[in-house]
Amino acid sequence: RRSRHGAKVRCVSISKDTPPTTTTLPLREIPGDYGLPFFGAFADKMAYYWTEKLPKFYENRRDKYKSTVYRMNTVPGPPGFPDPRVIILLDEKSFPILFDVSKVEKKDVFTGTYHPDFKYTGGYRVLPYLDPSEEKHALLKGFCFEVLKSSGRRVFPELHAKLAAVFDGWEAGLQKDGKTSATKDLGMATLRFIVTAFTGQDPTAPDVKHSLGAAAPTTSKLWLAPQILPIFVPPAGVPKLLIPLIELLIHTFPIPYFFVKSQHSKICDFFRSHAGHLLDVAESQFGLARDEALHNLVFYTIFNAWGGIDILFPILVRRVGSTSPEFQRELGAEVRRAIEANGGLNPAALRDMPTVQSAVWEALRIEPPVPFQYGRAKEDLIVESHEAAFQVKKGEMLAGYMPMACRDPKVFTDPDSYNPKRFLGDEGQKLVQYVLWSNGPETEDPTLANKQCPGKNFIVTLSQLFVAEIFSRFETIQVDYASGELRSLKRVS
Ligand code: HEM
Repeated sequence: RRSRHGAKVRCVSISKDTPPTTTTLPLREIPGDYGLPFFGAFADKMAYYWTEKLPKFYENRRDKYKSTVYRMNTVPGPPGFPDPRVIILLDEKSFPILFDVSKVEKKDVFTGTYHPDFKYTGGYRVLPYLDPSEEKHALLKGFCFEVLKSSGRRVFPELHAKLAAVFDGWEAGLQKDGKTSATKDLGMATLRFIVTAFTGQDPTAPDVKHSLGAAAPTTSKLWLAPQILPIFVPPAGVPKLLIPLIELLIHTFPIPYFFVKSQHSKICDFFRSHAGHLLDVAESQFGLARDEALHNLVFYTIFNAWGGIDILFPILVRRVGSTSPEFQRELGAEVRRAIEANGGLNPAALRDMPTVQSAVWEALRIEPPVPFQYGRAKEDLIVESHEAAFQVKKGEMLAGYMPMACRDPKVFTDPDSYNPKRFLGDEGQKLVQYVLWSNGPETEDPTLANKQCPGKNFIVTLSQLFVAEIFSRFETIQVDYASGELRSLKRVS
């Protein structure tokens, strides 16, 4: 069998007595070690969060071991979290083993080596924590596809309306102070958008039953954040004195659910009141219990969809907004030409915008919003990097750090640069398969049997729409990439 890379791949069953002979690459022992119990993990944890930070933590070990596959302790680790020992995968060739659910188990690894208390999800193991071998996986994923499908006709008009308010805010801010944040209002706009698109009801609308009001983003974040705080990397510049406190509060033990119980109840009440039609579908079409469907729906909408978009939209505006005015004029001309030719900003117009498409894929390549993926070897395996083959034993945990895999210099030229035209033309098209943000190649689709993000195509469309909305209104937009500060806008005349 040949892989997407053209190399021979054979994942053979191996035992101590019969060393594998079927890989064409030199067999190498996986470099790196875990150090002493607890102390090794603690040293790696300090380096990861505080002394080396990302991506240096990974790069330093890659250079030391001269390998893009090695052993290390991941975070959060002991004393409050399970076994941190992983084999990290940092290149485009080894990474896809994580997508092969016949070889790796995806049970309870959505957030890594630990999972948050399932009280955060009503006591249920929601879809992202299920392995496809579990019966519920296909039923819940089918329900998720249905939720996405039913949002169809609301997506374009709702995003247009919510973004128009953000753009008005940009213009007002610039006029008042000469500069403003390009990203600060996006969270509220995208939360209102996604909940309205999925349920038909704006969660902030006053006078509706169980409205979340203007606090909707805060309420949502308070429920969402504690689930991933154990792996949160603090920003640079934290005073040294605060480090022990932060470590103790968020990286040492799981955060108990009771702190956010009331916020979670408010969110569930809103969905119970306004998403009854979706819960009917879950019951009648998929045979799911109503309460389990509710908790999955809350998770898909607030955690998966909004949580992802809340990271991705700021990335998009900072990346595209800091390209040259010449490129932006070209992009804008493509957008406006397609809108005119297709009678408005509709799905057909988006298909006529190859440069917008490429710019979006490039943002997803260079800054994949969900940077980590995990999977436990279901059997003894051979994993290949570009240079060597490695034996992995059944039960060992594989982990991938996608921002490095997707900057693999063996696949992408100038991999650390944002090149919005990278995926144009025949040569560019060949690279699309190496965009992995959705937990799978961009050229493949999520199915009931795999773990690829069911929102993959929805999110790419949404991102294209966001870029097209910007350039249907503005000729140029100048954003400082590092700070996200908006410095100038020029309206289309
Ligand atoms: C899975 C990313 C939006 C629902 C995943 C995974 C990634 C991902 C990386 C795989 C996690 C793993 O198993 O290791 C993103 C990003 C998004 C986004 C970056 C936005 C920018 C959405 C949307 C939905 C969604 C809009 C739908 C409502 C899910 C679900 C899973 C998943 C339910 C689990 C799939 C399964 O178990 O087969 N997503 N996602 N995501 N995503 Fe998304």
